[in-house]
Amino acid sequence: MADTKDPATIALRGNWSSVLGFVLASIGSAIGLGNVWRFPYITGQYGGGAFVLVYIACVLAVGIPIMLAEFLIGRKTQRNCVGAFRLLRPGSPWIITGWLGVVSGFVILSFYGVVGGWVLHYTFLSLQNGFVGRSPEEVSTLFASLASSPVQQIIGHTLFMLVTITIVAGGIHRGIERSNKVMMPALFLLLCGLLVYALRTEGAKAGLEFLLHPRWDQMSPTGILEALGQAFFSLSLGMGAMITYGSYLSRDTNLVRASFFVAFGDTLVAVLAGFVIFPLVFTFQLEPGGGPGLIFQTLPIAFSQLPAGIIVGSAFFILLAFAALTSAISLLEVVVAYFIDERGWTRRKTTWILGTVIFFCGVPSAIWKNVFGLMDQLATNFLLPFGAFLIALFVGWVLSQQERLAEFEPNEIRTVAYLGWTFLIRYVSPVAVAIIFLHLLRLL
Ligand code: TRP
Repeated sequence: MADTKDPATIALRGNWSSVLGFVLASIGSAIGLGNVWRFPYITGQYGGGAFVLVYIACVLAVGIPIMLAEFLIGRKTQRNCVGAFRLLRPGSPWIITGWLGVVSGFVILSFYGVVGGWVLHYTFLSLQNGFVGRSPEEVSTLFASLASSPVQQIIGHTLFMLVTITIVAGGIHRGIERSNKVMMPALFLLLCGLLVYALRTEGAKAGLEFLLHPRWDQMSPTGILEALGQAFFSLSLGMGAMITYGSYLSRDTNLVRASFFVAFGDTLVAVLAGFVIFPLVFTFQLEPGGGPGLIFQTLPIAFSQLPAGIIVGSAFFILLAFAALTSAISLLEVVVAYFIDERGWTRRKTTWILGTVIFFCGVPSAIWKNVFGLMDQLATNFLLPFGAFLIALFVGWVLSQQERLAEFEPNEIRTVAYLGWTFLIRYVSPVAVAIIFLHLLRLL
């Protein structure tokens, strides 16, 4: 595989300039709408602390092993998610796993861009003081009017996709790495600021209690499956995003440590986002089980009544915009990397063409709610679990022991972490994913 690492290939494909850049970009991919929008509301639905504990168990037992498997495939082959499988097992049907990844990139980004558009819309609204002085009813109808206006949604979606395309067209180092180095630290700072503020509100105690107190009676088998599905979505697993990011890495990175770090950062931000949202919800006696509308309908009511609502609301939506953008970048990069590596297109051309195609794929999601729901379902309940299952099987059973070992340092191989991972990726991950998958299919 020496030919894949020569300077000419690196110059064509790009590379991370540092391990920090890689880790920040991977955390940026992982932290997204899944953490700030989805995690808090499903935690509310499935027993608060009980769900958080089950979720952490899923991240440790299944999420981290699969993330390590994806990084390993990427770094080993230095290829996009289709090329990686082709290089490792030429002519075999495993290449389908890579194709699934490219298709998932199209599907997920098409509706992710629409939600990204809502986030930008709300960022502008809050910066213009759009919530303050409105009654709770008026604030919650703002979302209904956005959701029923294709024009407004398409404007937001266009803007969101333009920013995403511009960053990805800039390349791995100058586009993706650099923007993550700005947006991720900013996101952490905003989160810390909001946390200090939220924890001093009246509802802080009730909010923390809601999120942390384990109500096991509300936990159900469906809750466990939800936790596993959420872990995949939130950690960006199952479609080769981490294969692609791993492919721009040089040999000297400790992949075990990187996987732990990314998973830890992602989980921490999900929990802290809950620590910001629920205290505000309880301070104004709003409905914590508001479901998917929690962030766009319920929370702005709190912003409209807070003394510093314009600052808190703007900080919150800017944070959310950064989170969504750094994730969308990774989704687009999966598709772009394929066309650059396999078709020999230039990065700029590839990014603009594919970004535009994905933009048009997203337009139906902005117009019809059922298309939006269908895309979301198709990706989270079908493409991602199936992709994750295939990746676990491939790394656990198809790759030989030698092929796996070659990606670790000799001193890492005897560690509990390595031995534990081999066991988890061969036995635990595929079985766990197969169970959710079968369960979801029965539901469909
Ligand atoms: N992880 C992101 C979130 O939490 C979404 C995301 C980005 C993603 N890239 C992905 C999900 C790749 C699955 C696969 O919002």
